[in-house]
Formats: sequence, structure tokens, C-alpha cells
Amino acid sequence: MMDSESTEKPKRSLRKRPESLGTTLCDDSKQFAPAKSHSNQSLHLTPKNKLQPTEGKRIWAEIDLNALQENLASVKKVLGNKKILLAIKADAYGHGAKEIAAQLDAKVDMFGVAGIEEGINLRTNGKITAPILILSPIPYYEIDALFNHNLTPSITEIEFARRLALEAKKQAKPIKVHIEVDTGMGRTGLPYEEAADTIVELNSNPYLKVEGVFTHFPAADVDFSFTNQQIEKYSSLIESLNQVGVKPIIRHVANSAGFLNFSASHFDMIRPGLVIYGINPNSATSQTISLNPVMSLRSRIVNLRKIPKGQSISYERTYFTKRDSLIAVITAGYGDGYPWSLSNNAEVLVSEDRAKVVGNVCMDLTMIDVTDIPNVKIGDVVTLMGSSGKETISANDLANWAKTIPYEIITRISPRVPRVFIQDQTVLRVRDLLNL
Ligand SMILES: Cc1ncc(COP(=O)(O)O)c(C=O)c1O
Repeated sequence: MMDSESTEKPKRSLRKRPESLGTTLCDDSKQFAPAKSHSNQSLHLTPKNKLQPTEGKRIWAEIDLNALQENLASVKKVLGNKKILLAIKADAYGHGAKEIAAQLDAKVDMFGVAGIEEGINLRTNGKITAPILILSPIPYYEIDALFNHNLTPSITEIEFARRLALEAKKQAKPIKVHIEVDTGMGRTGLPYEEAADTIVELNSNPYLKVEGVFTHFPAADVDFSFTNQQIEKYSSLIESLNQVGVKPIIRHVANSAGFLNFSASHFDMIRPGLVIYGINPNSATSQTISLNPVMSLRSRIVNLRKIPKGQSISYERTYFTKRDSLIAVITAGYGDGYPWSLSNNAEVLVSEDRAKVVGNVCMDLTMIDVTDIPNVKIGDVVTLMGSSGKETISANDLANWAKTIPYEIITRISPRVPRVFIQDQTVLRVRDLLNL
């Protein structure tokens, strides 16, 4: 099992990071050996036994748990004594919610999920004991599950609160709630103008224990003046509540960009996701902490062919070789979450060399031009996201090429891509379709 109590490690050099392990595999003679299940096993990397769990995998996502701990430590250094809710929804942004939560259960104050099922998964499969806040509205028919699994709802509209209080009364179990106020997100939450009165009313209900009042930023990475207005609105709401004796125990506002760019938004707790996974919310953001990407995505060369000048590559014939070319086929495609919009529009790392994606990305395969790269062979590891030697392709690079956001890149890595959890160069667990 994973060690949820492990202590933070001092900074390690990039050279020793697990991403270099992937390229080590190129030298192994057993490439594409049948996959073995190493679930829940701890394998030490000795020269004779290098990262075996990825042998035979056509594609895999390495999850660097040291980087995770380092990012959390960096955030805490800036944040001081305040609380942290880790956004762990969407399978911890694709990193594996159960495993990430197990690592950080004792180190963050709360986890944030999107719905009942994600919460139940953490409680029952992950054995997570930390408070779990459901950040989004849930359907009324799921209210009783909150009580069964000790999950904390967000109140985003009054009818939900009314039904929740009735159920709490029926079960004779007052329930903790966090109330969301819309100060400018334009999505969910009590309308700002009515929020103070509504919160006072909800607070007077003996079955609702108002633990937190929060709001959310839509643009803390791009619109500083709008974000400042939101902070002012929120602060003045809290002040009016205090004046009438309503004192939410936990005031929380900041997502990753808010945390980085607005120290006035830290209040009692922050709600980061992206930074903890080591990704800058916006490449233009003024960076105040060093981040280590937690996820790397690697694949392999499965086919290598000389293609004469003028021949088309892949579906829809969107690419024609401009010279006699050496084209490698890698085992990654949009079925793995490698976006189709990267067709003719991305680079990958073959060892430390950059190769271009040529032709359309297929469901399971993608072609790259390796004409200028020496000594390429079938079985070589190809890095789609992450570092290989001195070169790096970040989630932001992929997002820019694919015209999307880094959130979408990482959350869309599909369930068929095995997650290989690595700590101190040791594979702790491989989660794949056979070992969920
Ligand atoms: C309500 C809420 N809080 C916090 C977060 C975390 O955001 P980020 O990953 O940008 O830190 C999200 C993410 O979507 C969210 O919806």
C-alpha cells in the first residue's frame, strides 16, 4: 500500500527525476515483453530490474509523488498557517484521486470533489478520513448519500438548502455546509445581492451548520481588476455577516491563480488544484513558486519505416513527406487522450531530440518524423508530456498546440492509460484497466 505518512523530501536534481527512468527503458532488451500486473507492489529499481511495470505498456502516465509533495510544500511555504482544500475532482485532474488522496490525507485540510460518486470513491475505496467538500451542486435525490458517507455539500441555491435541512431533521443529524456566493463567476452560488440575508436565514436553521462561505474566481490569471472587485465584494459580505453575528469558520476563495496572484484572497483556506499538480495556471502568470509537473506521459515506437518523398501519412491525407523520411509510429492516440487537434501540430521527445507529429493523430497510433534523429529503434520510449534529459514538453505546451487549456490536457488522459505511481525512484503501484 502507499505510504500516506511519508515525509517531504529535500529538492532533488532534475537528473534524478523519474522522467529519466522512462528513457532508461530504451536500453532494455525486453521491450514489449508481456505486461505483468504489479499492483500494490513496491519494486526497487536495480540495474537488473528497471521500472518493470512499464515494460510492455504501449503508453503510460508516470505520477511523480515526490513532485506532488514538493509542490504542496512550496505552496505551504507561501501560504503559512492557512488551510488547504485540494481540488481532487476529475480523478485528481487525471492523476488518480485515490492514490493522490492517500498521499495527502494527513497533509491537507480538505478534499474538493465534483459530485457524490467521487466523494464515495474516496471514502470507500480510498479510505480517506479528511473532510470532503462537494464543490458543485448535486441533484436533490442524492441528498441522503451525503449523510451515509460523511460528505459536506456546497449550498448554491435555497431550495437545495431547504431539502437538505429537512433530511437532516429526519435523520436527526445536523450537517455541515459551505455556502457558495456568486461574486462574478456567473455559474453557481447565491446571487451576491441576496447572499447576506439568505446566509443569515440558513444559519438560523439548527440542522445546517454553516462551516464555510466561499466564492470562485473566473479570471484570476488574466483579469486582475475584476478579481480585485470580487475580493472586495466577498470581504464586504463577510463583514456584514460578522456584524450580525454570523461568523463562518472557514472563508475560502482562491484557486491556483488566485493563490499565486492575490495574497489578499488567501483568507482562511485556499482551494488549489493545478499548482499542486505542478502546472502553472497560465504561462503568463507571474510565478512566485517553483512547480514540478507531477504527470509525464510516455509511449513507445512500435514501427519504423522509410517513406519516400511525396507520400501521404495517416487519415485524410493531411501530410505529405517533403523528402525521403524516416517515420516512426508511436502507440498513443486520441483514444488515450492525446488530442486529435495535435495532428501535424505537436512535438514529442525521442530521448532528448524533438520530433514532429506528422499526419492526423489516430485513435491508438500517431506518426512522428524521426529522419534527423540518430539511432532510433523500435521500442524506444517517446515522451509526449514531461521531461527527457534536458528537454521538456509541458502541459501548457500541449494546451497551446491543441488550442485548449492544460486542465483539459491532463483530465482527458483516458482510463486505459496506466498510471504508474513513483516515489523515490520506486514504483509503488500501477493502476491500469485490470487494477483499478
Ligand atoms: C470551485 C473550485 N475551486 C477550486 C478549483 C481549483 O482550481 P485550480 O485548479 O485552478 O486551482 C476549481 C477548479 O475547477 C473549482 O471549480
